[in-house]
Amino acid sequence: MTRVGILISGSGSNMEALVDSMTGDHPARACVVLSNVPGAGGLARAAARGVAIETVDHRAFGRDRAAFETALDAALAPHAPDILCLAGFMRVLTADFVSRWAGRMLNIHPSLLPKYRGLDTHARALAAGEAEHGCTVHAVTPALDDGPILGQARLRIAPDDTPATLAARVQLLEHRLYPLVLRRFAEGETDPVMLD
Ligand code: GAR
Repeated sequence: MTRVGILISGSGSNMEALVDSMTGDHPARACVVLSNVPGAGGLARAAARGVAIETVDHRAFGRDRAAFETALDAALAPHAPDILCLAGFMRVLTADFVSRWAGRMLNIHPSLLPKYRGLDTHARALAAGEAEHGCTVHAVTPALDDGPILGQARLRIAPDDTPATLAARVQLLEHRLYPLVLRRFAEGETDPVMLD
């Protein structure tokens, strides 16, 4: 059975979708949910599902990213994850950490990459007058919101969309896309999947 660690910073709705998908004949199970934010809403949601939880508060390490990541490694190690899923994990990871997980770490990003890397993707897509928006799951490489695309889901932007309504609609897509891509990835399938 493939063991999946999930890293979060917030409410963890994508984490929930991932955990809930890993049942029955799914080849993977969630082994730990780790947050860099103490008390993040997702921690209670994970614990309620019987998944082990860990917290590594990045603020305890100041600007020392290497020390933060050493603590991440130490918190993850007892759970022995094979794959890491970033699910709203809002810390940039160093090239060292990323290379240790090369080919074994996924991220979900709320845009149709390579468009709109970084933050405020929904507002930026609206401001640019885009007709479409969506989300991407990709393998993590050292460059931010880069790396081979494993799946995308898209929607049409409505004339009355606001950043909030668009974010809510994209999140519904995220909850479909990420479990689908994770399952395929755990089965060794890395051809990109596109949801319309
Ligand atoms: C998700 O929309 C995810 O795409 C985004 O944070 C949200 C977390 O929500 N991630 C990023 O912006 C990463 N660059 P959740 O905690 O409810 O899953």
